[in-house]
Amino acid sequence: MSKLKINDLHVAVKEKEILKGLTIEFSTDETVALLGPNGNGKSTLLQTIMGNPNYEVVSGSIYYDDKDVLKLTTDERSKLGIFLGMQYPSEVPGVNNSDFLKAALNAHREKPVSLFEFYKLLNNAYQEMHIPFEMSTRNLNEGFSGGEKKKNEILQMLVLNPDLVMLDEIDSGLDVDAIQVVASTIKKEQANRGFLIVSHYAKLYELINIDKVYVLVNGKVAKTGDKSLIKKIDQEGYEWLKDEGIEFPNEEKMNTTSIGTCATKEVLKGK
Ligand SMILES: Nc1ncnc2c1ncn2[C@@H]1O[C@H](COP(=O)(O)OP(=O)(O)O)[C@@H](O)[C@H]1O
Ligand SMILES: [Mg+2]
Repeated sequence: MSKLKINDLHVAVKEKEILKGLTIEFSTDETVALLGPNGNGKSTLLQTIMGNPNYEVVSGSIYYDDKDVLKLTTDERSKLGIFLGMQYPSEVPGVNNSDFLKAALNAHREKPVSLFEFYKLLNNAYQEMHIPFEMSTRNLNEGFSGGEKKKNEILQMLVLNPDLVMLDEIDSGLDVDAIQVVASTIKKEQANRGFLIVSHYAKLYELINIDKVYVLVNGKVAKTGDKSLIKKIDQEGYEWLKDEGIEFPNEEKMNTTSIGTCATKEVLKGK
């Protein structure tokens, strides 16, 4: 078991401070749900953990056991066992999906994978994800639907076998059947690795086990709790946190299409 420890992290994007002293920790035997209104720094946190150079760490620390993650390149972080399933996976024309997966897998190994072993691994992953195997010969994410791109992220996870998996809005763009496939894979994999899962929808969280819930507001952890916190947010939105003295950024511009969508609908019904 490994532990990721983030302490008093301040991160800026284009000179604007987005994370403003964020402290969390969790281990690879837990699943953590990360919630929060749009634009409050969830993706920024995940991108920073993975080492995206657009996110400038101003101060604070990220440790993975005794390793200073901030001193490592993105590929070194990946080799440590950290994986990010992205909110907006990029299309990579000219790079075949299976060649990409094989190159990524080999980069994590000392000896290259044999063709037989790779085929078996790939075939199992495609079956598990209910993705037609023909898609392995298509270019990476090129022309994929939103849902196919998201399922392809989980497929990469199955092939690379990381210890700590971060999934950024993995359920957005998935139809009901695809959510079931993704959720059942996550549920099965929870025994093998840790998850940090960002989602706006209670549905995905209902289908998997959740050990801890963090709510991120204005670049900081505003609230910590258990699964009941997800239910409360799903029903009531985030407004009630203001009564607890939590400050929100640019309140007038805040997007309400968050997990509180159901709560918003309830409010509208009452009008
Ligand atoms: N690459 C970027 N360029 C400019 N602004 C960005 C970039 N990434 C994030 N931001 C800004 O940082 C803030 C937090 O964004 P983000 O971390 O994506 O929020 P969340 O994932 O919680 O919705 C937003 O105001 C967003 O516009
Ligand atoms: Mg985001």
